[in-house]
Amino acid sequence: SKLRGKGVWRYKELIPGSYKSIVSINEGNTPLIKSSNINGNLYFKFEGLNPTGSFKDRGMTVAVSSAVSLDYKTVIAASTGNTAASASAYAARAGIKSFIVLPKGKVALGKLAQSILYGSVILEVDGSFDVAMDAVMKLYKDLKIVYPLNSFNPWRLEGQKTIAFEIIEELGVPDNVIVPVGNAGNIYAIWKGFNELVKVGVIDRIPRMIGVQAEGASPIASAIIKGKDTPDFIENPDTIATAIRIGKPVNWQKAVRAIKESGGTAIIVSDSEILDAQKTLARKEGIGAEPASATALAGYFKAINDKIVDKDEKTVLILTGHSLKDPDSMTKADAKRILVNPLHIEKIILGEINGSNS
Ligand code: F0G
Repeated sequence: SKLRGKGVWRYKELIPGSYKSIVSINEGNTPLIKSSNINGNLYFKFEGLNPTGSFKDRGMTVAVSSAVSLDYKTVIAASTGNTAASASAYAARAGIKSFIVLPKGKVALGKLAQSILYGSVILEVDGSFDVAMDAVMKLYKDLKIVYPLNSFNPWRLEGQKTIAFEIIEELGVPDNVIVPVGNAGNIYAIWKGFNELVKVGVIDRIPRMIGVQAEGASPIASAIIKGKDTPDFIENPDTIATAIRIGKPVNWQKAVRAIKESGGTAIIVSDSEILDAQKTLARKEGIGAEPASATALAGYFKAINDKIVDKDEKTVLILTGHSLKDPDSMTKADAKRILVNPLHIEKIILGEINGSNS
């Protein structure tokens, strides 16, 4: 049919809703890259290669198509940056107005720049993402003319679940899927995708869902690890992984369910582990991911160490966003930058190769 596309919309039959038109920028269909230097049983689902550089585009194509089909002319989203960039692009494509609410000073440069370029109205709050999220929750209920694009909107998750479909098509059922967790929609969406494939008889088991959070923003992982039923929210979350700098995840119940019902678990990683993992991924695999995404690799290393995951198990890491999103994080890696006299370049290269300069 006309609505059947290549990426997310390839799975039209499994995406509910009826749409007058589809707002798509050819999202989805991202590569599943086999590790070549870390572990041959490890795979990277590189969501950084979506149109705006994160997995958010998968959800946004469905949510904005729904907004347009319901005749909304205005959309809004609170965001740590990627949802904002994606919402701005898809609203632009749909020809409707977008407002985004950001935690001032805490959004990575690439994401802010995208939202500026795509032409959103940018509203910045003094406070964390959670403050922005609360404001949007209240606003969309009171002011019925704005359509919310955050992940409490179920259409977002219907798009994001196609990550699971693509993994199954390419790899079959892995043993583990490791997902960075912030507002906690994505881990649930992927789990939902696997479950739907069980229901329609495509697969007969699902992978363990392992959620990773950063130390300063780990309400869900802390609760899971301590065996508590409800998380203690964090008033002032903090982490270098600004995408997941969230203290009160809206979808926490859904994430806990996905983790528990899949027999998975949660892992907490520190900022220095995140930056190390980001560098390892870049320097051993040639893959550039933003810090929030690198939590998946940091979590994998920890899971192997703690014998939660075996190195012989097939494990997929969801690399949620591109490294270019956050240039500041990349420049934190140690670099060899040498001011040279052009006449001395040969000498320096030979020194580097022979090890005398290291
Ligand atoms: N990774 C990246 C790169 C993200 O941008 C996010 C969330 C996550 C992981 C976590 O996904 O919220 O579904 O658990 N970013 C949101 C945003 C909060 O506003 O861009 P989640």
